[in-house]
Amino acid sequence: MSFTHLVKTYEVQNDKLLLPKKQLVTYALYALIAVALLYLFIDPAPASSSKPAVTLPWVQQELPPPSPPPYQQPDEVLSSAPTQQVAKEASAPQGCDYSDGEWVPDPNPPLYNGTTCEAIKDGRSCAANGRRDTGYLHWRWQPRGCELPAFSPAAFLRWLRHKHVAFVGDSLARNQAESLVCLLSSSRSRPEEEEEEEELVDGGRFRRWVFIEHNATVSVFWSPFLVRGVEKAEKAGVPYNDVVLDAFDERWMSRLGEVDAVVLSAGQWFKIPSVYHESGRVVGCHACAKELNHTETSFFAAFRDAVHRTLVEVARRHEHDAAIHKGRKEKVVAMATFSPSHFEGDWDKGAPCPKKQPYKSGEKEVGYTEAEMRRIVLEEVEAAAARAGGAAAAVRFAALDVTTLANLRPDGHPGPYMRKNPVVGDDGRVQNDCLHWCMPGPVDTFNQILLQTVLG
Ligand SMILES: *[C@@H]1O[C@H](CO)[C@@H](O)[C@H](O)[C@H]1NC(C)=O
Ligand SMILES: *[C@@H]1O[C@H](CO)[C@@H](O)[C@H](O)[C@H]1NC(C)=O
Ligand SMILES: *[C@@H]1O[C@H](CO)[C@@H](O)[C@H](O)[C@H]1NC(C)=O
Repeated sequence: MSFTHLVKTYEVQNDKLLLPKKQLVTYALYALIAVALLYLFIDPAPASSSKPAVTLPWVQQELPPPSPPPYQQPDEVLSSAPTQQVAKEASAPQGCDYSDGEWVPDPNPPLYNGTTCEAIKDGRSCAANGRRDTGYLHWRWQPRGCELPAFSPAAFLRWLRHKHVAFVGDSLARNQAESLVCLLSSSRSRPEEEEEEEELVDGGRFRRWVFIEHNATVSVFWSPFLVRGVEKAEKAGVPYNDVVLDAFDERWMSRLGEVDAVVLSAGQWFKIPSVYHESGRVVGCHACAKELNHTETSFFAAFRDAVHRTLVEVARRHEHDAAIHKGRKEKVVAMATFSPSHFEGDWDKGAPCPKKQPYKSGEKEVGYTEAEMRRIVLEEVEAAAARAGGAAAAVRFAALDVTTLANLRPDGHPGPYMRKNPVVGDDGRVQNDCLHWCMPGPVDTFNQILLQTVLG
C-alpha cells in the first residue's frame, strides 16, 4: 500500500499594527539567546507580506503502485529489537510520567531518513547538510520507572483517520510538525510530491499535509505568541515584537473548528524585546529602548498571560461550536513545554554546540529561564484541565513536558549544519543553530510522547 500526501496552503491574513519607528534599542543580555537565529530560520520576511491564497481542491488521487520501503519498516525493526524497548502499540501504562528520565543507547536506526523525507525544509536535515557523525541518532528516552512505547506510525495514523492535528506556534512547532510527517511517512512508500504545491504561503509558515489514504491531516500554523502580534524584524524596521495580549490570532483560532488536536509550542519569541498591548494601550515592555519610556515588565508574566488567555479561548470556542453543532467531538489540546537551546557561549559570536553525546541524567540542570517557562505551561495547562472538568470534558488539555529530555540533548541540534551552505555572519563566523533539532533526532521523541497523549 502506499499513499500520497499533499502540501496544501493556507491563506494568511494581514495583522498589521502601528509600529513605532524608533530604532534605538538597548538589549538586555539574556534576551539575546536564539533571537538572531530565530530570524535566520524562521523567516526574514515581515509578517505583512501576504500572498494570494492557493486553494486546492480535495483530490482523490490515483495512488502510486506499491514500492519497497525507502528506509525500513518500523514495525519489523521493533519486533526484532534486541532491547527491552516496548514494541507493541499498546498505550502507555496509566500514570507514566515521561517528563523525567534518561537517554539510553538504542541500536535501532531511526524510523526515517532525513535526507529523503520531503517534509523537511532546509535546516533540520542535518545529514543532508553535511553532518557526518551519526551517534546522535541512536538514543531513546527512558522515563524513570515506566516505558515510553516506541512511536508507531500505524497507531498514529489509525488515531488520525478522518482527523486533523495542527501544530501552532513558532519554529519549534514547525520542527515538531515536520518530524511527525516524516515519522508517519515512514510506514509507507515515499510520498508523491505535488510540485505546484511547493509554493508555500508566507515562507512555509502555514503548511498542511494530507495522508489521503487515511484522510489524515497534519498542519502547521505560524503564531509565535499564540495571541496576536507582530514579530520583531530588524531588517524590516521592526525593532521589537508587538504583542497584543487581548486579541487572538485568528489565522489559527478561526480554524479550530476543523481541528481535532492542537499542539501549541511557543516561548522563544517572548524572550526578545517586546511591547505589550492591551485594551488598545501599551501596558508594558520587555527589554525595550529606554527612550520609549515604557515600564519594563516581565516576559514570564506576558507569556503566562498569552498562554492563559489562549487556553481559555480554545475551550470557550469549542463549547460554543459544540452547542451549535450538537454532538461534541473531543478535542485534544496539548502544549509543549520550553525546549532549551545549547549554545556554548554567545549565540551571536558563533557559539557552537559541539557535544556529541547526551548529558547523563542529572549532569545538566535545566536553566532558570527554561524552568520558569516550563512551569508556566504546566500550571496553565493544569488549570485549564481543571476548568474543563475531568474525564468527560469535551476538551482534553495535556502538557507535553519535554524540557528535561530536550535539555539533556546538546548533541541533537544542527549546529553549523543548519543549511547546505553554512550561514556566515557579518564577522565571518559560521552561525550555529543550537536551538532547533536535527531530524531524525530528539524532536521525534516529542511526537512519541504526543502519540501517547492523543491516545489518552
Ligand atoms: C538517506 O538517503 C540518502 C539519499 O538517498 C542516502 O544517501 C543515505 O545513505 C541515506 N541514509 C541512511 C542512514 O540510510
Ligand atoms: C476527512 O477528515 C476531515 C477531518 O480532517 C473530516 O471533516 C471529513 O469529514 C473527512 N472526510 C471523509 C470523507 O470522511
Ligand atoms: C520619553 O520621555 C522623555 C522625557 O520625558 C521625552 O523627552 C521623550 O519624548 C519621551 N519619548 C517618547 C517616545 O515618548
